[in-house]
Amino acid sequence: MNDTVFLGRVLSFQRRCDGAGDEAAFTYVEDGAVLVRAGRIVAMGEAAELRAQAPEAKVVDHRPHLIMPGFIDTHLHFPQVQVLASWGRDLLDWLNSYTFPEETRFADADHAARMAKGFYDGLTNHGTTTAVAYCSVHPESAEAFFAEGHARGMCMVGGKVMMDSHAPEALRDTPQRGYDESRALIEKWHGTGRMHYAVTPRFALTSSPEQLELAGALVGENPTCYMQTHVDENVDEIARARALYPEAKDYLGIYEDCGLLSERALLGHCIHLEPREIEVMASTGAKPVFCPTSNLFLGSGLFDEASLRARGILSGIATDIGGGTSYSMLQTLNEGYKVLQLQRQQMHPYTAFDWITRGNAEVLGLEAEIGTLEAGSAADMVVLNAGATPEMRLRQERVETLAEELFLLMIMGDDRSVTQTYVGGVAQKGV
Ligand code: GUN
Ligand code: ZN
Repeated sequence: MNDTVFLGRVLSFQRRCDGAGDEAAFTYVEDGAVLVRAGRIVAMGEAAELRAQAPEAKVVDHRPHLIMPGFIDTHLHFPQVQVLASWGRDLLDWLNSYTFPEETRFADADHAARMAKGFYDGLTNHGTTTAVAYCSVHPESAEAFFAEGHARGMCMVGGKVMMDSHAPEALRDTPQRGYDESRALIEKWHGTGRMHYAVTPRFALTSSPEQLELAGALVGENPTCYMQTHVDENVDEIARARALYPEAKDYLGIYEDCGLLSERALLGHCIHLEPREIEVMASTGAKPVFCPTSNLFLGSGLFDEASLRARGILSGIATDIGGGTSYSMLQTLNEGYKVLQLQRQQMHPYTAFDWITRGNAEVLGLEAEIGTLEAGSAADMVVLNAGATPEMRLRQERVETLAEELFLLMIMGDDRSVTQTYVGGVAQKGV
């Protein structure tokens, strides 16, 4: 029957963990296993039981490492793989100096296809098995993004950026072209294999009111698609958005007025929020996405996770490559931890690892498919080694609990701690 049993210490969250004492929020099996058949998880539990259940199964032994659901990155930019680590004074300077010129190169399908290989290798090398990506304005970039992800069997979300103003000519579509090209991509890719489409107006600064209206029409016509954009990242950006859309109540109001907000709306950054904007997110179910390495790199500001949660709003967490500085969701937690520390908010390692797995899946409404090791889920998994470097091994000598091990992983870990990444039960690293 082509079953495989993966042996290791198995960890999977069932709900958001409220800190040290909340061990009922997850399943942890010390002598554990995950039984996989045809790319899906049949069961997770005690190794002895699963081996008895499937005596013919092939055995892959990852002991003593941790087996977890693959990481989920809810905001990053595919055409910025060669922008990462580019100097910029702030968001708008960085966009104009590096990012926009670089994205023009994605009109070339061959360039986009080559970059897609590097992009996906970067994700899986770092343990990420699902990501939500902005492509460039060119349909060629979205084609490359979807074709490569589909060929690898990954669950991916993405969309062609819609942008028709305040950008170089080579990066501008028109309201109608942006609509038509997005619609054609939705027809081709949304629901093909494990692909999902996100209607992607880049942000209010680069879309005319006509374009945002048509983006809203696309959202209304395609209710199972996601919508992604940026909001309230940087104070100069906010001032420009307000000047361009003086009728709107606030920055988020621009998107609200065009019908872009729903539970499937992913709003990158959300740093400098007005009280009304928080209420709009609470009432529409739109999800803020925290991008710590990017927010620090571009000096954008501090994301206030606790206030949003107190209002019942679920946030995603993401790398935001290439404003973000690492593909690693472990390093994203490291920097996120510090951003919250500066506001006297605490991120317990249980909460953190729930966030980059089940939590981000919940933000996408995909928790039955990804983000846990529950029976029926895709066998998208990561194998983690908290002793991947000599320095980590030295620190590990003093680790006594699972929480301490997870904390070591999220502070000192990166791709070197990712022993293997599985997509649908298929190994991705070093193959
Ligand atoms: N706002 C609009 N475009 C971008 C982008 O590419 N990166 C970031 N960080 N913010 C944006
Ligand atoms: Zn972004």
